Amino acid sequence: MLHKIASRPPRLWGAWLHFSHCRRLSTVEVLGRSYPKDKFTNITPSILSKLPTQLYTRPGHPLNTLKTTIEAHFPDYAHFSNLPALVSTYQNFDSLSFPADHPGRSATDSYYVNKDLMLRTHTSAHEVEVFCDGHKKWLLTADVYRRDEIDSSHYPVFHQMEGARLFSDDLNVSGDALARENTRLFSELSSEHVVLEDRTLVDSKNPYQEHHNKQLADLVTQNLKYTLSLLLFKLFAQAADPSSEAPLQIRWIPAYFPFTTPSYEVEVFFRHKWLEILGCGVIQQATLTNAKVSNEIGWAFGLGLERIAMILYKIPDIRLFWSEDLRFLSQFKPGEISTFQPYSRYPATERDISFWCPNDFHSNDFCDIVRDEAGDLAEEVQLIDQYHDKRKQGYVMSRCFRIRFRSMERSMEHAEINKIVITIKKRASEALRVEIR
Ligand code: DAH
Repeated sequence: MLHKIASRPPRLWGAWLHFSHCRRLSTVEVLGRSYPKDKFTNITPSILSKLPTQLYTRPGHPLNTLKTTIEAHFPDYAHFSNLPALVSTYQNFDSLSFPADHPGRSATDSYYVNKDLMLRTHTSAHEVEVFCDGHKKWLLTADVYRRDEIDSSHYPVFHQMEGARLFSDDLNVSGDALARENTRLFSELSSEHVVLEDRTLVDSKNPYQEHHNKQLADLVTQNLKYTLSLLLFKLFAQAADPSSEAPLQIRWIPAYFPFTTPSYEVEVFFRHKWLEILGCGVIQQATLTNAKVSNEIGWAFGLGLERIAMILYKIPDIRLFWSEDLRFLSQFKPGEISTFQPYSRYPATERDISFWCPNDFHSNDFCDIVRDEAGDLAEEVQLIDQYHDKRKQGYVMSRCFRIRFRSMERSMEHAEINKIVITIKKRASEALRVEIR
């Protein structure tokens, strides 16, 4: 789930901020504090309004149940869920060895308050500070923010849980205890109805770290694999079809993250499909050195709560997590993972918007304007047509986006949609310099 878009230079944002009345302001207010704006500033009012929400604190909310279920699986870990979303670019990227040209740094992918401050794009942003505070076993839950497309599984705010564990990097100190623990975890796993498929090799593409003792790195990797396989068994086995005799299948595949090596992704075979559930790996020593705990070795993982909750509860649209509708909220009991019962949906209305685009056009910029104007009424934005015309100077590409509007809570008037569409067109032409067709 890490930023997948190809490398592209950061975009400058001074032009379109935000609503007309604050365009001249040189500061932006985030959670009651003012910060200077600059050409990187791209945080929008609709995103700012999400900051105080903390959905995962509401008892009975699926995100809360999932969080508390995972926390209960790690009773002797420190549990954090109150760290502010505003972080430095150092915390989010540099402390974790993200390369300078990593696409996640781009302002088309992340929300910036200014060039130094941003909304965290992942919970890994807090690894260094939590390790620095001396915690060796911990879980952290938080809202994270990414600029993205608009559809049933993407929302600019979602929730992640990060978990990590450190051991002394001296084999004589931690080796025996780790080996014993791994034997215990393995026998626990073997007694469950689960099949582990491990396609990972430690090789030059996914290596151990040079200065790590290989035997210890191997024990830490095993510990990571057994610990997380047991967690996934706990989460998925109870939700699996009880009439099925088949064991739960979990598979480990190699991955790449700038802040771990070796790195893995874990998938679960659930309701006839392999589903990617989490990313993890052995923490890069540079991260531990940044946290001033360089005599340790450890593992970390990060998972998306909405993604797992959508699978376990069969929740079809990510916007539902934000719904205040009692038909949604009253369905769930604290601590219980149950199947979502769909209720009748209000009708959708679609509108197409076509325009000529300047060369630096990015669809995430357009989606943010749609989000800002339509809020949760925007169900999906789809690129339905592109057209190339070399004769048109500076504007060679025409694109047509289809926006589907649907309220989760009420029927909408056409006049209301029309008004939103007019404003979207106006803002897109001013801020993104598109030429409406
Ligand atoms: N931060 C990653 C993301 O947002 C997930 C992740 C991968 C977290 C590997 C980790 C890790 O701690 O070790 O996609």
